[in-house]
Amino acid sequence: MKRDGNVKAARWCAGCHDVVPFFSGAFDDPNFDDVNHPTAQAGITCTTCHAITHVNTTRGNADYTIEEPIHYPFAFSTNKLLAFLNETMVKAKPEFHKKTFLKPLHKSAEFCSTCHKVSIPYELNHYKEFLRGQNHYDTYLLSGVSGHNARSFYYPPVAQLNCNGCHMPLQVAKNDFGAQIFDTNNIRKVHDHLFPAANTGIAHLRGEPDIVKRHAEFLTAPSASTFSESRKAVESNSH
Ligand code: HEC
Ligand code: HEC
Ligand code: HEC
Ligand code: HEC
Repeated sequence: MKRDGNVKAARWCAGCHDVVPFFSGAFDDPNFDDVNHPTAQAGITCTTCHAITHVNTTRGNADYTIEEPIHYPFAFSTNKLLAFLNETMVKAKPEFHKKTFLKPLHKSAEFCSTCHKVSIPYELNHYKEFLRGQNHYDTYLLSGVSGHNARSFYYPPVAQLNCNGCHMPLQVAKNDFGAQIFDTNNIRKVHDHLFPAANTGIAHLRGEPDIVKRHAEFLTAPSASTFSESRKAVESNSH
């Protein structure tokens, strides 16, 4: 912003990082206060992911379609009674809510690719027409784990068909209204929305030792077992 004197380049970042101010139009204001504006600290909210209705391509760079969801009556009411009525309606007839916010696309690795694959155009890098940024989608696709790559030298016993199998492990949540019986042991669960991985930096900066711990445990958790089993296989092969 300092370099260009406008928010054009930052708008590009916002497609993945600041979806709320971006689509609300707040970001277009050249004086947008990226620290104090009410939308600035929203981050990736529930509706950021759950209002995405279409994955346009797997080229990344936020190439998704997001739509304003159709809500039950009184969804935004500040009147306590009307807000209560809204919640009751959602619970009484959750199929509509579910159809709006949970689509088959959410189960696909392509959904995650929209933000987890970055290419940086010349306008931003002032060096080359195309520079690859971080890309977790192709690395997944080109690994043995996805079952898509013929050149891998090791494969897990069963392919991992999406990112969620590892990064959204099932978690017991008996009282969560969204919980369901997903696996064989008849206990209501949800998919973990912490998205555990390797990066403990943000949690550390925010002073959240319990979150740091959960990220650290990820590598030894059963959900990552496909990963660690493959790694063990590689290690034993090389001896
Ligand atoms: C296509 C989507 C996309 C675009 C566009 C994008 N990013 Fe990111 N960025 C990500 C994702 C996904 C991560 C998390 C990667 C990880 O943790 O390994 C990330 C991580 C980061 C981090 C590190 C945060 C951390 O947790 O350590 C910074 C800082 C960052 N981006 C800044 C920017 C800036 C500045 C721009 C614009 C010039 C930008 N990003 C554009 C998707 C994007
Ligand atoms: C709207 C864009 C967007 C979508 C869609 C998205 N992510 Fe992210 N994701 C991000 C950004 C931005 C970050 C970095 C957040 C930060 O560090 O503050 C991130 C962080 C992560 C991290 C933590 C990385 C780390 O270093 O610890 C994981 C794991 C992750 N995402 C997995 C997924 C998976 C799996 C999906 C698909 C179900 C997905 N993401 C969909 C934008 C997105
Ligand atoms: C087989 C399990 C598995 C699958 C499938 C998988 N991941 Fe990961 N992912 C991991 C593990 C384990 C790590 C931590 C690796 C490490 O740094 O040691 C990780 C790390 C990450 C990180 C953090 C990288 C960083 O630089 O800090 C992101 C972001 C991420 N994965 C996103 C994705 C996305 C998006 C997909 C699907 C396209 C995906 N992962 C598929 C197991 C998996
Ligand atoms: C980074 C994207 C992302 C964000 C942000 C996100 N979700 Fe999800 N959510 C998903 C995906 C992907 C699934 C489907 C996982 C699957 O079935 O593999 C899901 C599933 C769900 C489900 C169905 C039950 C389940 O666990 O499968 C509910 C309910 C839900 N999310 C609620 C929320 C709420 C509430 C928030 C905000 C606090 C939120 N989500 C934020 C990606 C996201």
